[in-house]
Amino acid sequence: MAAGLGKRMRSDLPKTLHEIAGKPLLFHIIDQVIQAEKSKHKPSISIVLGHGRERIESAVLAHPPYAELHRSGLLSFAVQKDQKGTGDAVRSSMDTSFGENSIKTKSPILVLPGDCPLIPSALIEAMSLPLGKGTHLRLLTTELENPKGYGRILRKGKKGPVFRIVEEKDANAREKEIKEVNTSIYLFEPKFLKASLARLSNKNAQGEYYLTDLVAMAAKTANVKAGKSASGKSASAKSAIDTLIWSQSEDLRGINDQLELTQAREIMNRRIVEGHARSGVQFTDLSSVWIDSSVLIEEGVAIAPGVILHGATSIGRHVAIGPHCQLKNAKIQSSVILKQGCVIDSSEVQEEAVLGPYAHLRPESIVGKKAKIGNFVELKKAIIGEKTAISHLSYLGDAEVGKNVNIGCGFITCNFDGRVINGSRKHKTVIEDDAFIGSDCQTVAPVKVGRGSFVASGSTITDDVPGDALAISRTRQITKLEYAKKLRS
Ligand code: UD1
Ligand code: CA
Repeated sequence: MAAGLGKRMRSDLPKTLHEIAGKPLLFHIIDQVIQAEKSKHKPSISIVLGHGRERIESAVLAHPPYAELHRSGLLSFAVQKDQKGTGDAVRSSMDTSFGENSIKTKSPILVLPGDCPLIPSALIEAMSLPLGKGTHLRLLTTELENPKGYGRILRKGKKGPVFRIVEEKDANAREKEIKEVNTSIYLFEPKFLKASLARLSNKNAQGEYYLTDLVAMAAKTANVKAGKSASGKSASAKSAIDTLIWSQSEDLRGINDQLELTQAREIMNRRIVEGHARSGVQFTDLSSVWIDSSVLIEEGVAIAPGVILHGATSIGRHVAIGPHCQLKNAKIQSSVILKQGCVIDSSEVQEEAVLGPYAHLRPESIVGKKAKIGNFVELKKAIIGEKTAISHLSYLGDAEVGKNVNIGCGFITCNFDGRVINGSRKHKTVIEDDAFIGSDCQTVAPVKVGRGSFVASGSTITDDVPGDALAISRTRQITKLEYAKKLRS
């Protein structure tokens, strides 16, 4: 169910597209479903969309694994025209071929909200176990210290069978005391689901069709016998409602506002960082580092405080990442050293290179083996050869630099002159192997500095420099003896 307005988020972005660990809330849930069902069979997934439908649909289809499921008919969208409640949301999906097929195949239907990204696949596995004969639904509950906002589970007697769920807004003071809450995760027997959805009414505080009312309907149809389990085992097969109590309530946090989003993000990040720590990544601390779920890190990597790793980033063995480095879609090969404050976007750093402090790699840059990119050096679409050193205060854009090149302090490739030549606004600089470029030089592109040549300090290179040449482009120094005294007087 991902059709809701998400009003409490106070955000233009549909609720389920908000990200934690670099992934929309909805994708976390879909991935856990796929993961849980992998061993058995391929699940057929229907996503109920309404508010922000186009945006969610195109985000889902832009993700290649989901697009593939969509093509093969295993992932579909249902449309809920008006957001008339969770019961109406499920009803919308039952009107589609997804619902029709489910009823034909008698496969039970797992219903999940789109806003609980912390659920583990083990929970879905437990919820997906076959329903006992005569059981209409399996209900997942958990106990919360602060149950405010959640639907409360009403039982006959203290630990008796569940007979109803009451929403916060419909609950009386005594019901609000109840700490056992509805998680919005259910497994339904399809015939019961279809028949009961047709009977739903919206006579409640919110004027909505509550999916939760199906629980009372199921309880009425049979002589409900107690069924519950703290560990996640199925209950008595004879009861109409099979209740599963999940003890890890943290797994079931729903996200309704920005505070809950941040809290879930912290929990997810802690799980990811702890997972890497268990597989041999060395962290100075666990709390200040942020790592997306998609990031790959090998053993023996050392990560300092304040490091942020996003997207399709991969870090090879024995890399050291200094404080406050921020990497996105970066490929870092083994034994690289990133000193403090490096920012790397969509670039590659090869073995044993040393970067920073404060090096900035913009997209499509490659730093070769054992190369050195020092402080305040910015690269953009620059390929730097093996053992080349660019140690201080430089900008290289649209450049190809060979091996063993030394570039002094304050070098600039002037790649943009405001004109467009052959459709290109940016021009290329080529510096061949073993060249030596003194400090404070510029190359005005397109231009090439040949193999083994020297460029003298303070030169502006506008013409190609042949291999083994010396290029110098500055006026000669004039020294006036004793002149300083004259100035002082
Ligand atoms: C719901 C449950 C509540 C439970 C809580 C757990 C109902 C009536 N209440 O409340 O018992 O404790 O979840 O998190 O079911 N949605 C639609 N269409 C709609 C309305 C909602 O698709 O018309 C979707 C939302 O996008 C969301 C999910 O259903 O993903 C839950 O809706 P939400 O408004 O967050 O329900 P809660 O008030 O949290
Ligand atoms: Ca919710």
